[in-house]
Amino acid sequence: MVFDNFVGTNKKADMKIIEIQDVTKTYRLNKKTGNIITAVNHVSLDIEDGEILGLLGANGAGKTTLIKIMLDLIKTDSGRIIIDGYDVAKHREKALKEVGAIVEEPTLFSDFTGMENLKYFAKLQNAHINEEKIKSIVKLVGLEDRIDSKFKSYSLGMRQRLGIAQALIHSPKILMLDEPTNGLDPNGIIEMRELFKSLKNELGITIIISSHILSEMQQLCDRVAFMVKGEIKAVKTMDEVNFGVDKLKKFALECGDLQKAKKILEDMELSVQKSENMLIIRATQSDISKAIKALVQNDIDIYSLARQKRKLEDLYNEVSLSKSISEEVAK
Ligand SMILES: Nc1ncnc2c1ncn2[C@@H]1O[C@H](COP(=O)(O)OP(=O)(O)OP(=O)(O)O)[C@@H](O)[C@H]1O
Ligand SMILES: [Mg+2]
Repeated sequence: MVFDNFVGTNKKADMKIIEIQDVTKTYRLNKKTGNIITAVNHVSLDIEDGEILGLLGANGAGKTTLIKIMLDLIKTDSGRIIIDGYDVAKHREKALKEVGAIVEEPTLFSDFTGMENLKYFAKLQNAHINEEKIKSIVKLVGLEDRIDSKFKSYSLGMRQRLGIAQALIHSPKILMLDEPTNGLDPNGIIEMRELFKSLKNELGITIIISSHILSEMQQLCDRVAFMVKGEIKAVKTMDEVNFGVDKLKKFALECGDLQKAKKILEDMELSVQKSENMLIIRATQSDISKAIKALVQNDIDIYSLARQKRKLEDLYNEVSLSKSISEEVAK
């Protein structure tokens, strides 16, 4: 048993690529009054190798501050960040060697073409980055058609893509993106999501992405950290966000003869409610399989069965999200 635990812990430790350890950052708002604001308040979080982690929080929650701390762009009051085994504040270069990031506006020259910008940036990186490599990144971010146009002629979506290309130029293992879909239209958001997924799936890149809109994270992230007023209130897998940790899940069943079906399920001691033209069943995954079998054996036609996503209120109560996030979530 002890051995099992040991192996288990060790395995997990191997998977961590970033460790945020009890990080706090305060800003002094007014020298005279000594008024301070705690932008990041005792935050601890492990980020696993290869995951997409969403940092969700309302305006002012501390997302940008936390990302800037991870990039050593601002210093903490206390706590530390370990990336790839290196303390960012002590071994900046080694810790950030494999990190690409977009925080606020990427620095790109408006009179240069997209390609010229990338070549310039590649030179700055001092690494051996040849043209083929740059072209493959351009293809990856879907900018091939416009890469020879001047940056100033780019739409917002193209600018974001070039920013991501820039962040990818030194083949990082980790990408940190502060609200990368800000200002994009719905199509642009979908395209970005597909791009991030392929960076994760094809290149195994770990991605940390901040947003104030849960629905954007729902189809992208493996886990979401809920940030409220500088604190991380909860970290949940997407499955927990959508369906809760309760073993009993809600299923919506559309089938023939609803009355008869309801009776059969109740006889199996399942909790069933009729809602319009469907039955809402609370059951475990294995009980629902048995239930469907029983219905089919009783000649009930099954039209559809879907796990129901939880309502916003459930999440709201669980995480005590601030009102402004919940409004965004509700959209
Ligand atoms: N340089 C600064 N000086 C003083 N206060 C600051 C500074 N930078 C951030 N803050 C404060 O720290 C808190 C967290 O800000 P931060 O920018 O990290 O939030 P955010 O979650 O990124 O918000 P948004 O969604 O608006 O980008 C806010 O109250 C903000 O006013
Ligand atoms: Mg921000």
